[in-house]
Amino acid sequence: MTTIRYHQTPVYVGASWDILPELVDFNIYSKVILLVDENVYRWWKERFVNYLYIVIPSGEEQKSLLVVENLVQDLIAMDADRNTLLIGVGGGVVCDITGFVGAVFMRGIDVGFVPTTLLAQVDASVGGKNGVNTGKYKNMIGTITQPVFILSDSSFLATLPEEEFANGMAEVIKHGCILDENYYSFIEENRNKIRSRDSDTMDYVVQKSVELKSSVVAKDEREIGQRKLLNYGHTFGHAIEKKYNIPHGQAVSLGIIMVNEFSVKKGVLSVLETNRIKDLLAFFGLPVAIENYAVQELLPLVLHDKKRISDALQLITLKRIGEGEITPVRIDEFM
Ligand SMILES: NC(=O)c1ccc[n+]([C@@H]2O[C@H](COP(=O)([O-])OP(=O)(O)OC[C@H]3O[C@@H](n4cnc5c(N)ncnc54)[C@H](O)[C@@H]3O)[C@@H](O)[C@H]2O)c1
Repeated sequence: MTTIRYHQTPVYVGASWDILPELVDFNIYSKVILLVDENVYRWWKERFVNYLYIVIPSGEEQKSLLVVENLVQDLIAMDADRNTLLIGVGGGVVCDITGFVGAVFMRGIDVGFVPTTLLAQVDASVGGKNGVNTGKYKNMIGTITQPVFILSDSSFLATLPEEEFANGMAEVIKHGCILDENYYSFIEENRNKIRSRDSDTMDYVVQKSVELKSSVVAKDEREIGQRKLLNYGHTFGHAIEKKYNIPHGQAVSLGIIMVNEFSVKKGVLSVLETNRIKDLLAFFGLPVAIENYAVQELLPLVLHDKKRISDALQLITLKRIGEGEITPVRIDEFM
């Protein structure tokens, strides 16, 4: 097991679910309540027998204020108080909901996360962002509140559907692209082991991605500067996800290809490096053919993105593999 620390939060990677009781300080907490994703509960029921828990149905639509209010009612019925520790056990949806409920219940109680999807282990559980959606707008209501611990147990990944694994790989590849060339090469060289979810290799991948993401977050929690790099592939990715209703990782993959093509046209990124990235995304079953997605049709959606400033986009581009940068781009440069 490796422990990574950012802010005050320890992240236990390559850890076993069985150590959970050791992470709870019963001098501080009078009660522990788990919020468990329904599919995780179905597959791993026996892990929860000794705990108080609430099962949350799976799906993005759970990220709503109504669900939060119902959970608050449930917590009150379970006699939760200010000394209750809430632990989210699930993917990004459950982590986001748990983080938000924890931030607002009785003006704030502590939360821990046990992320069970690859995406949640390498991305959603780390960084403190939480929240719910409103109407068609994602993550519009939320806070930045750090969990008291994150426990990452790669055995949960054994039951993760293929498509969900690929969603997580889009973020893993993103981390290598923007922050660490050696890590990117490691992913390339160990692609077969990763695809077969070899546990030692996955522990290393989660460790590396958490180290990279948390070092960025530690320097820029509120996304004023460097944290924006993590939006690589997401500017057009979010627009594609919304317009074509395709899974997040697939949309990010297409968003990465789009922004890379833009950088190639501007003479910044080499064709060789773009093709390396394309090959790796495709190896993990992610889509890379952008012919059917016209940038011009996506722009209106991109312009509604909350991350836009004035009439320039802050696009995250690559100088080369391992080095992302924030590039202000005028809208007319896409025309
Ligand atoms: N807070 C952040 O910084 C941050 C970052 C990235 C994404 N997110 C959010 O995360 C969410 C996406 O997260 P996700 O991709 O983990 O999706 P998810 O939580 O919806 O999980 C995906 C699917 O996998 C199932 N599942 C989870 N663990 C499983 C397991 N071990 N075995 C079998 N099935 C399992 C779930 O039931 C669900 O059907 C989005 O809402 C997104 O906005 C948040």
